[in-house]
Amino acid sequence: MPALGRYLHFRLLPDIDPRGALLRLKQHCDGVDTVAGIGNVTLRRLGARIEGLHDEPRFEGALEPIPTQPRALWLWLRGDDRGALLHRGLQLTAALEPAFALESVLDAFRYAGGRDLTGYEDGTENPKGERAVAAAVLANAGPGLDGSSFVAVQRWQHDLARFARFAAPERDAIVGRRHDDNEEIADAPKSAHVKRTAQESFEPQAFMLRRSMPWAVGESSGLEFVAFGYSFYAFEAQLRRMLGLEDGVTDGLFRFSRVLATSYFWCPPMRSDQLDLSAIGL
Ligand code: HEM
Repeated sequence: MPALGRYLHFRLLPDIDPRGALLRLKQHCDGVDTVAGIGNVTLRRLGARIEGLHDEPRFEGALEPIPTQPRALWLWLRGDDRGALLHRGLQLTAALEPAFALESVLDAFRYAGGRDLTGYEDGTENPKGERAVAAAVLANAGPGLDGSSFVAVQRWQHDLARFARFAAPERDAIVGRRHDDNEEIADAPKSAHVKRTAQESFEPQAFMLRRSMPWAVGESSGLEFVAFGYSFYAFEAQLRRMLGLEDGVTDGLFRFSRVLATSYFWCPPMRSDQLDLSAIGL
């Protein structure tokens, strides 16, 4: 994970063919310092389809609101110099004009070596190595698709003052891990976040690669939750359980945090250090 991140969301302006802008983007993305995701809005405009990319779902019957925000394009700039990220963002925004217009920007950062702003380590149970690749990257789907990924981006806003008012054991019970040693709490309540989302407890198992970063703007702060998968299955299975759709129990996280927006994107594969857009005819 980088020290700093900058998330750029774009919308597509009417009556302008986005092909030229996407071809320029192709050369600007190295997949490491700049990661790109294309939204369904853009694919529809191109008359293209990527099997597996669908609109953000509505969770009928959910006990918490999950606002969705379809976006045309998502860029995740990664680095360690805020000014450099700002300038890279300006260059990319210029390259994407006039088809795409910048709609929102959010700066994010690594906190305490990889913790959420609550102070809990985030990412412990991420699959590693080959298992991470298997969870996050599409395979056996054919050229132009193999090596691509689906990303769910979900902006959470915390109420850290409220979280701080819970006693330490209650905070641990919300997460399901002990803050002090990051050990999982075997008898944590059903609502504990890691009980809700235990990846191997789903049928089929629901592994994903989380790459979330904390953010803070003025008085507001939270987590930009970012999860890569070979499909959206794991994200949706876990979120359904967090929302109480299986057993009426909602995730403890909702006691101090809420979702502001959820967006889905397809991250094209890389070929020769460029985005490979052949699956959408570019
Ligand atoms: C406020 C937002 C969130 C915060 C602060 C948060 C924080 C955490 C923390 C502290 C852990 C324990 C350490 C670890 O294994 O990473 C964790 C685990 C996990 N979280 Fe979240 N999370 C959030 C949202 C979500 C969402 C929206 C999902 C999926 C829809 C999710 C999926 C997972 C998964 C799969 C695990 C590992 C569970 C396991 O297999 O043990 N999280 N999260």
